Amino acid sequence: MQDLVKEKPFKPLVVSFCCNWCSYAGADLAGSSRLEYPAEVKIIRIPCSCRVDPLFVLRAFQRGADGVIINGCHPGDCHYSTGNYYTRRRMAMLFSMLDFIGIEKERTRLEWVSAAEGARFASVMNEFVGELREMGENKRLGDIRCKE
Ligand code: FES
Repeated sequence: MQDLVKEKPFKPLVVSFCCNWCSYAGADLAGSSRLEYPAEVKIIRIPCSCRVDPLFVLRAFQRGADGVIINGCHPGDCHYSTGNYYTRRRMAMLFSMLDFIGIEKERTRLEWVSAAEGARFASVMNEFVGELREMGENKRLGDIRCKE
């Protein structure tokens, strides 16, 4: 009888921060080009990648995210000149501390996606979600008050 009951495949919840000027436009292009990427990716539009406070990443994990990806313009292309340089340094610090907190750093990523790279956006999301599926559910840092 148990053989008849198939287990549902694990669907990781992915929070994807996208800067307005490049990555969000890249995601938009992926959509309008009908390129497929998993529906588990929840996009949060931000003015610039440097708007992502490291606490946003930790809060996402606390609220049940299995992976967090920050997308910004390529270095040198930031709409605000140097925003993504700050992001790069900030996230390097955060990612190096994640193991200490108890979260595999592979659950986080920083990617540069331009407005013309819809295909790259879709392939990065497919790859990231594929890796998270293999890693399984994030059981660390979850705040039980956030579970319903
Ligand atoms: Fe895209 Fe700053 S505007 S990273």
